[in-house]
This record gives sequence, structure tokens and C-alpha cells, in this order.
Amino acid sequence: MLILENVTRRFGSFAAVENVSVQIPQGQMVGVIGRSGAGKSTLLRMLNRLIDPSDGVVRFNEVQVSSLKGAALRNWQRDCAMIFQQFNLVPRLNVLTNVMLGRLNHRSTLLNLAGSWSRSERAMAIMALERLGIAQTALQRAGTLSGGQQQRVAIARALMQSPKMLLADEPIASLDPLNAQIVMDSLKSINQEEGITVITNLHTLDTARTYCERVIGMAGGKVVFDGPADQLTADAVRMIYGAEGEDLSEGITSTSLGSSGGTESIGSLEPAA
Ligand SMILES: Nc1ncnc2c1ncn2[C@@H]1O[C@H](COP(=O)(O)OP(=O)(O)OP(=O)(O)O)[C@@H](O)[C@H]1O
Ligand SMILES: [Mg+2]
Repeated sequence: MLILENVTRRFGSFAAVENVSVQIPQGQMVGVIGRSGAGKSTLLRMLNRLIDPSDGVVRFNEVQVSSLKGAALRNWQRDCAMIFQQFNLVPRLNVLTNVMLGRLNHRSTLLNLAGSWSRSERAMAIMALERLGIAQTALQRAGTLSGGQQQRVAIARALMQSPKMLLADEPIASLDPLNAQIVMDSLKSINQEEGITVITNLHTLDTARTYCERVIGMAGGKVVFDGPADQLTADAVRMIYGAEGEDLSEGITSTSLGSSGGTESIGSLEPAA
């Protein structure tokens, strides 16, 4: 269980995240939505300590994440692998090597300096690529892959960390709808089959509704909605997106996944009868 208690992050006097308290049981798939600047990335980055809270506490079971240091902090960062919108691969290295890089923080410095990979590391990387359906790209330079393939390489690299949690910051924002769907399907199946908690920032409402059992809506740094996707009523959506929520056929739902028409009318946001 991941627990946030009154977590706040200030930049100067401005609170990017304010007084957020949530509990996320192991194995949940959570979508975080909200307008640009709502605090989604800041929240996610506090979970793996890329940035530190100004106030409040992050805990994982008995461990106080927000005060970890040194090796314990590195172990925690290994436990919660991060995936980014821009993939963050090394383009000139081949796919297999990129994936094995996910293993770096499991190895000794000496082994890393020697720069050699063991048979078991290679086997593990190939299995991870097979898991994502892209083993055939193993020897290609990462930079030559399509965006969707690159994001799957990034997910395979994350799996090499044997994480307890996958944190994804807008993992499909740079992808076309088909690749977006493949990547979201991959995250979902890893979540369901491996029991790995997935927390993902998403900028489209319908993606969150399609893939996430739980949706956290943020506005102005605060959590203004937290519940199952089917409770995202038109009112809840307006609370999250403000007046823009009135015009849901534009922007918010534009890269439509799993819905047939490409856009969604506000009527379909009412809870199912
Ligand atoms: N390092 C920083 N220094 C100052 N302000 C920051 C910093 N990081 C974030 N902010 C501010 O905090 C607020 C929240 O930013 P954040 O990146 O978390 O939003 P977001 O919800 O991820 O937005 P987007 O959908 O555009 O990615 C914004 O107003 C942003 O300008
Ligand atoms: Mg962001």
C-alpha cells in the first residue's frame, strides 16, 4: 500500500501540489487526470523522489519513502520504475542494450565498469521484449523504431528493474491512437498479470475511463475527484477541468481510445444506469 498524507510541494510560495492524501493498494491501475499545470507530474515525481515534498509524508507499507537516503533511496527508485512521454532511450544503442540498462542499478559498479552483460541479463531482456511483442527489434538501434515501439522498449527496460510500481507520465501523449492503444494495453496487462501497481498521468479522459479502475482528478494542485472511472459524472469532469469541461468533444477526449466515434459527447459521461 502506497500512502500519501497531506503531501504538499511548493515552488517558492506557489503550491504545485497541495495537501494531497491518498492510499493506493498494491496492484491498482490508477489514472491521474487534470488540466495542464494541475500538478500531475509533480505528484508523480514525488512518489519516486525525483522531487521531494515540502510537507507531508509518502509511505510504502512501513517504509517512510520521503525520508529515505543513499542505498535505501536507490532501492526505492528501483522499485518504482518511471516511464516518460519522450521514452528517454539511448537512440544510438540497440534495443537490447537499452533494455539491459534497466538492470544497471541491480549490478555492482565494478560489473558496470566492465560493461559486459551476463547471459541471464540478456535472456531477461529478451523475455521482457517478448512480453511487449517487440523481440524482433532487439538488434535495431532504438532511434530507428517508431514511437510506439520505443515506448514499449522503455516499458521493457522498466520491467528489468523488477519494479513493484510503474509510474508513467503521459506515456501516450506523443503517440498516434493505434500506438497509444498498444502501449496502454501493455501497461494494463502488466498490471493485471504481474500485480504491479500502475500510476499514470493521462491527458485524455476517455483513456483513463477505458483503462483505469481508479481515477484521481487534480485541479490547482488538489485532488478534486478520486473514485472509480464510472463515477466520473459530467459534474465531476467539470470540477476537474473547470469550464473547459463543458466542451468535452474537444481536446480532452481527442485521442480517443476504445470509443468508437473518436469523440465523446457529454451525455456519455453520466454514470451508467
Ligand atoms: N521546478 C519547478 N519550478 C517552478 N514551478 C514549477 C516547477 N515544476 C512545476 N512547477 C509548476 O507547478 C505547477 C504544476 O506543474 P506540473 O508539471 O506538475 O503540472 P501537470 O499537471 O503535470 O501539467 P501538464 O499536463 O502540462 O504536464 C505548474 O504551474 C508548474 O508551472
Ligand atoms: Mg505533466
